[in-house]
Amino acid sequence: MTHLFKQILALCLFAGLAAFLAGCEPTKPQPRQTVTIPDGEIDPAVWGKAYPEEYELWKKTEEPVPARRSKYKTGMDSGPVTMDKLSHFPYMALLFNGWGFGVEYNEPRGHAYMVRDQLEIDSSRLGSGGVCLSCKTPYAPGLQKEMGVDYYRKPFKEVLGKIPEKNRDLGVACIDCHDNRDLGLKISRGFTLIEAFRSMGVDPARLTRQEMRSAVCAQCHVTYNIPKDKEGKSIGLYFPWQKSKFGAITIENIIQQIRSDESVKEWKQSVTGFKMAFIRHPEYEFWTNNSTHFKAGASCADCHMPYTIAGVYKVSDHRVMSPVQADMKSCKQCHAESPDWLRERVFSIQDRTVSIMIRAGYQCATVAKLFEMTHKAQAEGKTIDGLLYQKAKEFYEEAFYRSLFMGAENSVGFHNPPEGLRILSDSLAFGTRAEAYLRQALTKAGIDVPLKVDLEIMKYVDLRGQKKLRFKPELEFKDPYGLQEKFF
Ligand code: HEC
Ligand code: HEC
Ligand code: HEC
Ligand code: HEC
Repeated sequence: MTHLFKQILALCLFAGLAAFLAGCEPTKPQPRQTVTIPDGEIDPAVWGKAYPEEYELWKKTEEPVPARRSKYKTGMDSGPVTMDKLSHFPYMALLFNGWGFGVEYNEPRGHAYMVRDQLEIDSSRLGSGGVCLSCKTPYAPGLQKEMGVDYYRKPFKEVLGKIPEKNRDLGVACIDCHDNRDLGLKISRGFTLIEAFRSMGVDPARLTRQEMRSAVCAQCHVTYNIPKDKEGKSIGLYFPWQKSKFGAITIENIIQQIRSDESVKEWKQSVTGFKMAFIRHPEYEFWTNNSTHFKAGASCADCHMPYTIAGVYKVSDHRVMSPVQADMKSCKQCHAESPDWLRERVFSIQDRTVSIMIRAGYQCATVAKLFEMTHKAQAEGKTIDGLLYQKAKEFYEEAFYRSLFMGAENSVGFHNPPEGLRILSDSLAFGTRAEAYLRQALTKAGIDVPLKVDLEIMKYVDLRGQKKLRFKPELEFKDPYGLQEKFF
């Protein structure tokens, strides 16, 4: 072998070894060169010129997802049809009857659809006005600042019309989560999230990077309330965290807050005639409340935006979606188990959650129907024991808000399994007690209450009008442990 050849061989071996070692490096994003984006630039295409990898992944939230991989999240390979929650959980059609959520209530889908879905959904869901844009468009913070209280109260379409036409149906954009100067994470919704953190005594400027990887999602994946004026017009927007602490936003504190504020009783439940508040998608509250993964230092982005290879870079997967639909890729960063094993864990947690969720939901529906019976008796001149009635109402509200919370939380219990079961069993306990109070009150008034209360479920499904066309019995929900018949 010539000397030169030996040298070349050595060089090749060295290069090979170096490449091998580099391949073993722990997963860490490749440093990206930071490009400053002009101040106030909303158009993601402009950001995409500097960061094409993230931009391409972000655009993919428009594509159909392999929904069949999930057990509870979507009944079909997504595409143009979103899954109808009221069909899967008909007790919701009864409980929410009286306003938009009882007409149409769907499972979420890709981020690209957030404004488009608002334009398609039954218009009864947009009655609150411009305020509905707050967690949908990157223009929301600007419009709120510019229009003041009119932003909340003016009709939805009118406020939407103030957004430049080409960006009107743009969903969450780069500027919602990023600082345009250095691409660090940023909370863009000062008027909601920053206020909410401050209401718990948290200085948002002091959140760690890992906490920020969840806080950007908390701009929207939280529950909120819309205070109304005397005419029922929206005059603001807040998160009900005032009575809570960071890492412990509990259902108890949320219920205490919303029951103490008359202005947020946004709707009237038609079966009971009660004015109530509402709870929506409380992912952040549920997950940060002492869950195993929160306590282990994980973030929303760890599971929903795992690192992925795009070209020569290691980037955060901006195609935000269900980790189950993404084939459990994100879990592998921390867990050594196989995707099948992990998926099985998710499904078993969800089955148990759904089992109790159905029980609690139908219990609330039963109490609601007993209130209907009670009110009818009162209208017919019967006297109902006031104390029993008050107790029943208080316990019913406690049961209803807990059932609502778990039905709205989007992970079907996975984000915090024992907390989910705790909330639902408390709902069931309150609901059972409320039923006992009402039965006693009705019996005292000389009314015979049948053992099995007729819920007239299909009536509420029919009352959905046009939208009931989406009701697909073959998708209708099965009780995971087959206990349904024992109760009905
Ligand atoms: C500007 C508000 C906003 C922000 C910020 C936001 N989301 Fe969403 N997200 C939504 C809305 C609205 C939907 C439902 C869209 C629809 O169904 O049309 C959604 C849907 C989703 C879905 C369901 C996707 C699917 O394919 O079904 C996941 C998962 C999700 N978001 C996770 C996150 C995570 C994780 C973060 C933070 C990294 C985040 N979101 C930040 C508003 C937001
Ligand atoms: C430990 C991993 C993990 C963490 C952390 C996590 N999630 Fe999830 N998330 C999941 C799993 C698993 C599901 C269930 C998906 C399914 O059934 O398809 C889910 C479901 C969801 C869904 C519904 C997805 C859909 O397709 O409808 C949303 C929205 C969501 N999570 C948002 C969040 C937000 C916001 C945070 C932070 C506050 C968060 N998640 C934290 C694992 C996680
Ligand atoms: C819902 C919030 C959200 C949106 C919208 C969003 N990002 Fe990100 N982005 C993140 C998170 C979370 C990270 C991880 C940051 C970290 O770990 O510090 C990230 C990281 C990045 C990074 C750093 C490298 C990497 O991939 O980890 C770049 C560059 C980036 N995003 C560009 C964009 C661009 C361009 C857009 C718009 C097309 C965009 N992002 C939209 C949340 C978002
Ligand atoms: C950032 C790291 C991290 C990620 C990402 C992560 N986990 Fe975990 N997970 C942990 C830690 C730490 C624990 C607690 C210690 C243990 O059980 O290993 C845990 C515990 C669990 C448990 C047992 C929890 C309990 O309370 O019984 C399950 C189930 C689980 N993870 C599933 C998942 C799934 C599914 C995913 C992906 C969607 C995932 N994890 C993603 C770190 C992570």
